[in-house]
This record gives sequence, C-alpha cells and structure tokens, in this order.
Amino acid sequence: MRLTDNEIEAIAQKIASKSPSSGRRPIVVGNWKLHKTPTEAANLVRELVPLVEGATCEIGVAPAYPCLERVAGILAGSKVHLCAQNAYWESSGAFTGEVSTAMLKDLGVSHVIVGHSERRQFFGETDETVNRRAKAVLAADLTPILCVGESLEERDGGSTQAVVDRQIRGGLVGLTELQVDDMVLAYEPVWAIGTGKVATVEQAQEVHSFIRNIIAELYNPQTAAAVRIQYGGSVKPDNAAQLLAQSDIDGALVGGAALKAADFAAICLAT
Ligand code: PGA
Repeated sequence: MRLTDNEIEAIAQKIASKSPSSGRRPIVVGNWKLHKTPTEAANLVRELVPLVEGATCEIGVAPAYPCLERVAGILAGSKVHLCAQNAYWESSGAFTGEVSTAMLKDLGVSHVIVGHSERRQFFGETDETVNRRAKAVLAADLTPILCVGESLEERDGGSTQAVVDRQIRGGLVGLTELQVDDMVLAYEPVWAIGTGKVATVEQAQEVHSFIRNIIAELYNPQTAAAVRIQYGGSVKPDNAAQLLAQSDIDGALVGGAALKAADFAAICLAT
C-alpha cells in the first residue's frame, strides 16, 4: 500500500506530537470565535507565523469558517495547524447552516473544537451532540479538542467534579482507547472565559488531575498519561507560564488573547 503525501505528513505530525521527555507535547490553540473577517484573519496569521517560528509547542488557530481558506493559504508550510470551531456529525444532506468534517478536511483543517461552553450555552449542545461531533471528527481522521467545564453556579454549589465527570464520560461514549490517546481535552471553567478571572493554578491543576483520573478509570493509566489536557479561560501572556508549568496542564485554549499576534505568540513561547 502506498501512502499519500497527506497521510505521511499526518503520521509525522502524530509522532512529533509525542515529546520523548514528558510524553505529552503542549498544544496551544487560538479560538477566534466570532471575530475577524477573512481579510483581518489573513493579516493576523501573516503577523503570527514568523513570531511563533521558535516555539516548541504544537500550535493551532481556529478562525470562523469563512476565513479558513484564506488562512490555510498563509499557513501552508508553517508549523501552525488550521483548526475549526465546530463540525456536524452528518456527512451531507439537508442540514442548513452546518458544516461537515469532509469539507473542513478538504480545506486543510486538522483539529476541530467540539463542545465549547458557548455552543453548550447558546446553541443547545448536549453531551450527546458533543459526542456525536467528536465521533465524526475522529472518523474523518481529524483531532477533536473536546471542551468541558463548570459554570460559576456549579462551582459555587460544589458540583464542579460532578459536572466535569458527566461531560467527560458523556463526550467520550463509544470512543476507543486509541482514539482518546490522540485527542485533546480542554478544561475551561465557564466563569473564567472572557471574564479576566483566571482559575488559580491550584484550581486548574486539581481539575486537570481529576480528568486524568477519569480517563484512567474509563480506559487505562497509559491512555490517561498520553491524553493532552489544555486549560482555557482568560489565558494571557502574564499567566500562561505558571499555568502551563502544572504537571497535568498540557497547553492552552486561548480566546481573547489569541486575537493579538504578539500576545498569542508570547503564550506559545511560554510553554
Ligand atoms: P478567553 O476564551 O481566553 O477569552 O477567556 C477562552 C475560550 O473560550 O476558549
């Protein structure tokens, strides 16, 4: 069997994503949400690419769908992955407004965010729909970035662990250990997103380690040790290094600070 250039590149990236020392190479992804027109997006990545050349972590940007093609053209040949903010589970059909994994893959997307709290909060996503999206992303041989996190009410009510436990188990239903090995999880406390209220490193580390224990219980210790867990929620250049130094924090999912090339690059360089 002959592999295509794309398949060889995908295998090389999978190997490169496992750092021999820690076993987990940090991954920093910028989630641009509903910001930047295609022209603005092109300018932002043009500025970003040279700034992150020296970074050792894995890096991705997730622009809105209409920006993907322009951004892909600029990222070609760079180390920055093209990511998408969501994807539908059906491959085609009468689903107005949805986007399939094949469409994203065709544009050069490698990672897809699923289950972001804004999708859960404003667009009715449930653990079941998040799970269906994650499965579709994996079936297309793309990497899901599966987000979980509690609201302020839930944290104050003492149910952080119960919520995160439900979201992780619900999001991973039916996924094999090999699939989970290669995916990325993101812990994003809803109260820290876009609020400037970052979780303390102790709060973040505690939940990350809790998530890793769930993976060990659901799968095995090797899978728990392999899966990367990003932290998200008001990550900025001045708090990134401290967060990323925690033993169970393997990168960051960055919103606001990803919209400025210098800030996002500083976060990438802090890993
Ligand atoms: P923020 O967003 O960095 O602006 O808090 C993070 C996210 O929603 O992924």
